[in-house]
Amino acid sequence: MSIFDVAVWKNGRVCMLDQRLLPHEEVYLEFSSAQEVADAIRSMVVRGAPAIGCATAFGVAVEAQRLAKQGFSGSWSEAMAPGLQILRESRPTAVNLTWALDRMQPLLDSTPKDEVPERLLQEAENIRLEDIESCKTMGRLGAEILPRPEGRPLAIMTHCNAGALATAGYGTALGVVRAARDLLKNIKVYANETRPYLQGARLTAWELLKDDIDTTLLTDGMAGHIMSLGLIDVVVVGTDRIAANGDVANKIGTYTLAVLAKRHDIPFIVAGPLSTIDLNTPDGAGIPIEERPSDEVTHCLGKRSAPEGVGVRNPAFDITPAELVTAIATEKGVVTAPSIKKIRELFA
Ligand code: MRU
Repeated sequence: MSIFDVAVWKNGRVCMLDQRLLPHEEVYLEFSSAQEVADAIRSMVVRGAPAIGCATAFGVAVEAQRLAKQGFSGSWSEAMAPGLQILRESRPTAVNLTWALDRMQPLLDSTPKDEVPERLLQEAENIRLEDIESCKTMGRLGAEILPRPEGRPLAIMTHCNAGALATAGYGTALGVVRAARDLLKNIKVYANETRPYLQGARLTAWELLKDDIDTTLLTDGMAGHIMSLGLIDVVVVGTDRIAANGDVANKIGTYTLAVLAKRHDIPFIVAGPLSTIDLNTPDGAGIPIEERPSDEVTHCLGKRSAPEGVGVRNPAFDITPAELVTAIATEKGVVTAPSIKKIRELFA
């Protein structure tokens, strides 16, 4: 189980920790419709690909409960269509969102009508529990391939937050970190702050310190220098979508890290569940990159940090080509030097 309620079912509603308020406040919010859950996803109450998938599944379940309470008696597929569409449009890059919808949607037609709300809730709970198990398995498999320096801690660099907060619990990249701590005992994490939304500073540092893991915070621009000093043994990141050829979409700045890791001969490992692999998108060029509001760049912690009138770009993700990825750790095994063939084999 997670130490945080990232996206769970409570009191007949979807309950989520408001990640926008971390690390200062731990506030839980409850949501009663697909619209409310979609708004929560869009506004970053919940974020991180697998967590978005779980929230989406619970969003479908709560929408059915809402309709059932209204005494609804028509076709579930028709009644649920607007809610599903609102959820589908909430964020574009993490494929776990559509993956969760594609898993929930068929149940609307294949389940006896009066059992639909309960069946959807059961499936959402299955998705949540499976995600925790996937993270634990991928964490263990990923940890087994890490370098093992002698006589000093293994130094892992990570970016954004791919932790318990970004999943149903345990984490993908931070799942590897947690498993490495259990396996090797002696590890150290360098967390990049992850401008502009500061997931590394606000969330990863908070989460790892809660877990007593030795963590050093860097601003993103420091990564190359710290690598050049020989201080990093491996980079481990999460992912929002992996294309069929192994190209990886992840938080903006990940591509830069991969190039730097190559330059410094540092292994670059991506951790993600099969629910993040999108076999329908041939390569990274087909992955939609979310463009977020410009004030995230012109402002820092609510205060303007750039002059009025400056042009701004705010792509939230970038694409790391497969050739820069040393290995992808999944719950079904580790793929080194990813290729179309090797990725397909994971689904065999
Ligand atoms: O914009 P965010 O915070 O949703 O971005 C999250 C990331 O990029 C994570 O690295 C990714 O979702 C993997 S989460 C296990």
